[in-house]
Amino acid sequence: MKEMEKISIIGSGVVGTIMGEGFSKVGFPVVFHDIDERKVNALIEKGYRATLNLEEAVLNSDISFICVPTPLSEKRSPHGYRKMDLSFVEKAVREVAKALTKKRELHVIVIKSTVLPTTVEEVVIPILNEYKITNAEVCVNPEFLTEIARTWTNDEQFIKGFFNEDRYVIGEAHPNSKGGDILENIYKKVNEYSKKNTPIERVSWREAAWIKLVANCALASRISYFNNLFEAALKLNIDPHKTAKIVGMDKRIGPYGTIHGKAFGGKCLPKDLEAFLAFLDEKAYVPEMLDATLKVNNYMKEKYGVRE
Ligand SMILES: NC(=O)c1ccc[n+]([C@@H]2O[C@H](COP(=O)([O-])OP(=O)(O)OC[C@H]3O[C@@H](n4cnc5c(N)ncnc54)[C@H](O)[C@@H]3O)[C@@H](O)[C@H]2O)c1
Repeated sequence: MKEMEKISIIGSGVVGTIMGEGFSKVGFPVVFHDIDERKVNALIEKGYRATLNLEEAVLNSDISFICVPTPLSEKRSPHGYRKMDLSFVEKAVREVAKALTKKRELHVIVIKSTVLPTTVEEVVIPILNEYKITNAEVCVNPEFLTEIARTWTNDEQFIKGFFNEDRYVIGEAHPNSKGGDILENIYKKVNEYSKKNTPIERVSWREAAWIKLVANCALASRISYFNNLFEAALKLNIDPHKTAKIVGMDKRIGPYGTIHGKAFGGKCLPKDLEAFLAFLDEKAYVPEMLDATLKVNNYMKEKYGVRE
């Protein structure tokens, strides 16, 4: 049997648990870590290896997937969008760096949390430099699982989502990096196990985080598009739902977003949209489409509530 990389999961919430359970199924030795004792105990009860001790998790693995939260902060960009709170990522990376001062072999740090395109350069690398870590490689590997799968299916099918990705995105320091090779190898083993040929796309750190945010905002903008026409249709005595459904029958358009009439909610779309706007506001410019997507959603939330 091919040697399986030892994996640690740093942050065993929704994403961390799916990742760890999925990798375990494939046959990778997995150790979960969380600062929340209840999460650690629940995983132990399910028969997994889990620890409150981050150092133990890191030193017993070759690769660590950072799956901590990236909520909105109270800090705002020049045009008033709330910025992403990267303090959880910062704290987790700092703890991993401290643990790595006790290790000599190569260790791969994978940022699985949704981050900004410049987070690795501006947050992760400075911490590794501060601790003089030279044996670590960093990859950005965003998660595209949908919350819908979680709320609409039972646990077993939920796990199935791990094997049903449309593509694996690996952001790496430079082309053909060792860290990228190791992570690609892991996803090749996932593909082998699931008998799938899911594309594995290797890009830069910035591009990987960009792809995740652009994807989430594309989904958000589709919902706002149909919502923006919702009241106009009503005024004209046109059924917005019936017509949107028929519009979506065009394969170029598709059904996503056509069940509208309420704001989009959930843990990801609203926060990722606003954090992306804040990031672009500071680093580039405010894209009108994304600004309108947020405005329409805020209006819908106020008037019609949130669809969950
Ligand atoms: N939920 C989703 O469907 C989804 C999908 C794609 C991407 N994401 C992204 O993945 C990331 C994680 O989201 P989630 O939904 O799993 O969050 P979550 O809140 O369910 O889980 C995060 C876990 O991290 C733990 N944690 C916080 N700080 C920690 C630290 N310093 N060390 C160790 N553990 C720590 C928390 O206790 C919690 O258990 C976010 O960036 C999110 O945007 C989520």
